[in-house]
Amino acid sequence: MRIEVRSLTKAFGNFVVLSDLNFDIEDGEFVVILGPSGCGKTTLLRIIAGLEGPTSGSILFDGEDVTHLPPAKRDIGMVFQNYALYPHMTVYENLAFPLRLKKVPRDEIDRRVKEIATILKIDRHLHKRPKQLSGGQRQRVALGRALIKRPKLFLFDEPLSNLDANLRTEMRAEIGRLHREFKTTSVYVTHDQVEAMSLADRILILNRGKIEQFADPITVYNEPASAFVASFVGSPPMNLVEGEVEDGKFRSPGGWWVAVSTAYRGKAFLGFRPEGAKLQDRGIKGKVVHREIFGHESIVYVDIGGDVVVSVKHYDAPPAVGENVAVWVNRYYLFDGEGKRLL
Ligand SMILES: Nc1ncnc2c1ncn2[C@@H]1O[C@H](COP(=O)(O)OP(=O)(O)OP(=O)(O)O)[C@@H](O)[C@H]1O
Ligand SMILES: [Mg+2]
Repeated sequence: MRIEVRSLTKAFGNFVVLSDLNFDIEDGEFVVILGPSGCGKTTLLRIIAGLEGPTSGSILFDGEDVTHLPPAKRDIGMVFQNYALYPHMTVYENLAFPLRLKKVPRDEIDRRVKEIATILKIDRHLHKRPKQLSGGQRQRVALGRALIKRPKLFLFDEPLSNLDANLRTEMRAEIGRLHREFKTTSVYVTHDQVEAMSLADRILILNRGKIEQFADPITVYNEPASAFVASFVGSPPMNLVEGEVEDGKFRSPGGWWVAVSTAYRGKAFLGFRPEGAKLQDRGIKGKVVHREIFGHESIVYVDIGGDVVVSVKHYDAPPAVGENVAVWVNRYYLFDGEGKRLL
């Protein structure tokens, strides 16, 4: 199903949560909405679901205006963070329930429950009640309950945030696999960039109710539209050094400068990724203040003066804390004082 969001604004009282959003989601696409806490992700998802009405603007499903259609008429499956299973029902009954509501014949319900339970590897647990299941099994049942209706659209709101790290990775792979299998248009809310990068066809990055960028993961990583995106995607995040641009030179508070080909003048941020720089005998001079060693690589934190510490990825034995080093930047980015990308 194709989704169009047109001039969508949502305010609670005087507080504007979503501000004039315009974007399309293609049929079969997996779109991740990524942004910090409070930026409006859940509100946007609830409006797409019909659980909340917009203040102005409209939502179209396959060209049809559904802005005022109730959730039950939108043909969507939802999985939320607090997936409420019915505690007094067995797994089987929990899965069958959405189909019973739709008055699907009994034998077809039985066939579809068993099919979905096999796909989700919960077929051995159909007779159990939710409290007899592990967190991951419960999450699978919640997924199954959304899948079994075969909706035209899936909406996920941080469905994995209650699971431990291993299970989260496993369920993430499961959701990716299900999407490849069913090709159902999906909108997935998270503030976890790893989840976003690994699942999304495209990532919509939201900041204070506005779209910072809407692009595929590689573009978001390589060509961030703003300093916000640059600092939100990538781990550790991109280094952003505040300084001044004048006459084609970025001058840092630490006293060093870099030639930049721009006519821009004024406050700016020079950005470079930890993996876009290296330690060698020339470059920006500094002193190692901290190291994180991962075995195959390390992150070396270097104080480059002017109260600025940057991170650099390093693949050989890392220098010791206190050692003098130089940071050579292979690839840099430049953002203006408002964080908009210049170079
Ligand atoms: N019903 C409401 N009434 C008033 N303000 C609300 C309401 N719902 C959400 N808000 C406010 O809107 C903003 C966005 O909330 P929302 O739940 O969409 O954020 P979010 O991006 O999902 O955050 P999180 O990552 O923490 O879940 C917040 O400042 C929140 O306090
Ligand atoms: Mg939320």
